[in-house]
Amino acid sequence: MGFPQPAFYLFKCQFQAPAGHPKPSCVNASNADLFGYLSQKVMQKGLMATVMPVQTACLNRCQMGPVMLVEPGHHLYVGLTREKIDRIIDEHIIEGNPIEEFLIPEEFWDKAITPKEAMKMAGIGA
Ligand code: FES
Repeated sequence: MGFPQPAFYLFKCQFQAPAGHPKPSCVNASNADLFGYLSQKVMQKGLMATVMPVQTACLNRCQMGPVMLVEPGHHLYVGLTREKIDRIIDEHIIEGNPIEEFLIPEEFWDKAITPKEAMKMAGIGA
């Protein structure tokens, strides 16, 4: 048997705007431990072999932070808390049921445009 790829990647936005920056960002003094909490949870549940928490830069939905993207599936969780992390791990990651009420509203997470469509919009020939 080969070395198995992860079943899930949990991309937690770790961007913290500098003090005095007018725009909100996902990490601030009150929630800076969320990534640590997430990693600990994954460990406690015995999921390390197949669930990979990843610290990522801004995912461009800053108003709704803290955000975490679960792949595969393009599921973007918003307003992340410890309580939400507990439920996401139990219900989505382990049981396979994404938690609709924690996901970003559809109007802010519309269907993706294809790379070829994006190139056309940018005026670059594919
Ligand atoms: S700072 Fe997290 S989405 Fe922008």
